[in-house]
Amino acid sequence: MKGNLRDFYQGKRVLVTGHTGFKGSWLSLWLYEMGAEVVGVGLDPYSERDNFVLSGIGSRILADIRADIRDPKGLKAILAQYQPQIVFHLAAQPLVRLSYEIPVETYQVNVMGTIHVMEAIRATESVRVAVMVTTDKCYENKETLAGYREDDPFGGYDPYSSSKGACEIAIQSWRRSFFNPVDYGIRHYVSLASVRAGNVIGGGDWAKDRIVPDCIRALEAGKPVEIRSPKAVRPWEHVLEPLSGYLMLARKMWEQPTSYCEGWNFGPEPDSVLTVWEMASALVSCFGEGALRDVSDPSAVHEASLLTLDITKAKTRLGWKPRLDAAGAIALTADWYKRYAREDVYALCAGQIKKYEGEE
Ligand SMILES: NC(=O)c1ccc[n+]([C@@H]2O[C@H](COP(=O)([O-])OP(=O)(O)OC[C@H]3O[C@@H](n4cnc5c(N)ncnc54)[C@H](O)[C@@H]3O)[C@@H](O)[C@H]2O)c1
Repeated sequence: MKGNLRDFYQGKRVLVTGHTGFKGSWLSLWLYEMGAEVVGVGLDPYSERDNFVLSGIGSRILADIRADIRDPKGLKAILAQYQPQIVFHLAAQPLVRLSYEIPVETYQVNVMGTIHVMEAIRATESVRVAVMVTTDKCYENKETLAGYREDDPFGGYDPYSSSKGACEIAIQSWRRSFFNPVDYGIRHYVSLASVRAGNVIGGGDWAKDRIVPDCIRALEAGKPVEIRSPKAVRPWEHVLEPLSGYLMLARKMWEQPTSYCEGWNFGPEPDSVLTVWEMASALVSCFGEGALRDVSDPSAVHEASLLTLDITKAKTRLGWKPRLDAAGAIALTADWYKRYAREDVYALCAGQIKKYEGEE
């Protein structure tokens, strides 16, 4: 593979769904920094403090489109108008606890939304590569220490996790039925993959019931951080880690369309798998002052307690590997939250990306 990622993305027309969200704003910013023509499709940002708003990335990219992926006609029209070459699909209802409150909407956005994106791709001749983002929670959780591998069965207990398991089944079906590698160059020109990341942390996430935003909100208010599931084990990783995997994978798919169109895990190394309590303690120490309070509630809704990913496949076949350990990921995250209120957030993010790119 010749040239770096910047050379590859320079001038490429890339559509990102969910560009107004946490991961989507970082991905759009990174793509923009590499010279890609980014078309974003998402709903309005959740708050004025979101990374999307503070970084101002929406006014830099080629198109900042507010549209609902539950509307198949609207989505097809956007792809027809902008003719993207690469699609990263991130738009979703991504919260486990909220999915218990709005299970039907969670399925509509996550499952039907994903199907609408694939149908819009099918109707648009320009698309060569599509990377569909699901989650580590798409696997049937057996609550074991062993990390899930790409060929483990899909499942999910709560509506969010199971909706992502259902997305995986739909993606597999669309690949077999419409984007089959055997028919590449005869019936279609699309390479379709799905990607599963761990628990992502980083600057600019203010989602409800996620540990980092919960910590920062409490610390900014001078209150103790309430920890609901202190013993739950998660594969924590900085947002730039899975994004680097998605970017690398899309390039490989572009260059060898039939070799990489499958499922990929992009999680941390096993030593970055910490309990919620350990992660929150490390974040508080990086941030400065603060205390944690255990508020575990045995009657709370079910959430997985043990969840890890096996990343051998991405390491051996893509040559991808995490560049930050848990301490590095937490430090970079705390750095953003310490600086966002006083600094130019676009420059802050671009600086963090540059620093990350320089890590070995
Ligand atoms: N954050 C994590 O820890 C994590 C871990 C694994 C997987 N993921 C997955 O990564 C993706 C991005 O997650 P995130 O943390 O950035 O979430 P987020 O909530 O910050 O962003 C979600 C994005 O989807 C958009 N969206 C939601 N409903 C939509 C609709 N009906 N039509 C159009 N756009 C819609 C929102 O506007 C937003 O841009 C999701 O698919 C999520 O499931 C996230």
